[in-house]
Amino acid sequence: MLEFGQPQVTIAIVFGVLALAIAVLALVIATHAKEDIPYEDVSRKGYRFRRPWLAFLTALLVLTVGTSFLLLPYASGGRPATVVKVSGGQFYWTIDPAVLPAHEKIAFDVTSVDVNHGFGVYDPDGRLIGSVQAMPGYVNDLRLTFDKVGEYRIRCFEYCGLSHHNMIASFRVEEGRE
Ligand code: CUA
Repeated sequence: MLEFGQPQVTIAIVFGVLALAIAVLALVIATHAKEDIPYEDVSRKGYRFRRPWLAFLTALLVLTVGTSFLLLPYASGGRPATVVKVSGGQFYWTIDPAVLPAHEKIAFDVTSVDVNHGFGVYDPDGRLIGSVQAMPGYVNDLRLTFDKVGEYRIRCFEYCGLSHHNMIASFRVEEGRE
């Protein structure tokens, strides 16, 4: 059963309100459709609106792209002190070491011994916090910092054979060594 507070319910409410707004807009347009308005009036209003709208969209684009660049989880600067070797195979993960320190940047060197797999990391609350492809012949570098201690789950994100769904593993995050 869906309950209040779940994302699906929020999305349904937002969608419902938007659909209602569009329906009201369509109704307003339909009832005014017979009035005769000169083309110049419409174009003057539209053009006055166009420049600020373009400026707003440009600012939004620069802000959004700029902010997301800051949050990219990929390699920057030197190598972190802790490097974890991750290898995917049909149908298992090897993760070494499997106990990691909290609050510091960790590099995952991710590869595969056979076909493509997807390395997906879930925090102790079951939220997806990072993912990268595990590919044969390549080592992909994923950088993550863990602020919660506990058990982190790994799930395979790429269909890789009959037991794809069994490719579940985990590692532990503990308070850092002093
Ligand atoms: Cu490995 Cu799906």
